[in-house]
Amino acid sequence: MTPTPTIDALFEAALAARERAYAPYSHYRVGAALADESGRVFAGCNVENAAYPVGTCAEAGAIAAMAAGGGRRIEAILVVADGPALVAPCGACRQRIRDFATEDTPVHLADRGRVTRTRTLGARLPFAFGPDTLGRAAGQGA
Ligand code: THU
Repeated sequence: MTPTPTIDALFEAALAARERAYAPYSHYRVGAALADESGRVFAGCNVENAAYPVGTCAEAGAIAAMAAGGGRRIEAILVVADGPALVAPCGACRQRIRDFATEDTPVHLADRGRVTRTRTLGARLPFAFGPDTLGRAAGQGA
């Protein structure tokens, strides 16, 4: 039986990553943490760049860490940031998540206090173009 990290564990990992965000341009610090198919937690933060479009999102960092660690499935993902409105993954990151997840994968959104909203990836990215469109399963292959 694969141990499933709690939302609290994801929150703590994402919060810690957020503290290390490199966001000198937007000053909007984001942390993301995900659980893979083995119950391991991988985290990432946004890393901005003087050439603005080159910056990367927290979710992209967490996914890259998972892939480099051998993980291929996102069982759940949590994103945390602080601002006037609750953070939500950008469209590109919803698509990034989709390759390793299903429509039922929970996406948790949090401010620094706590998880404030949970929706499935299918609710956040309906009618997605995903690996299944190409006859593949999420996270399948090398
Ligand atoms: N950002 C993320 O890290 N994840 C998202 O899903 C939304 C936006 C970052 C990118 C940029 O460094 C900053 O937030 C402001 O857009």
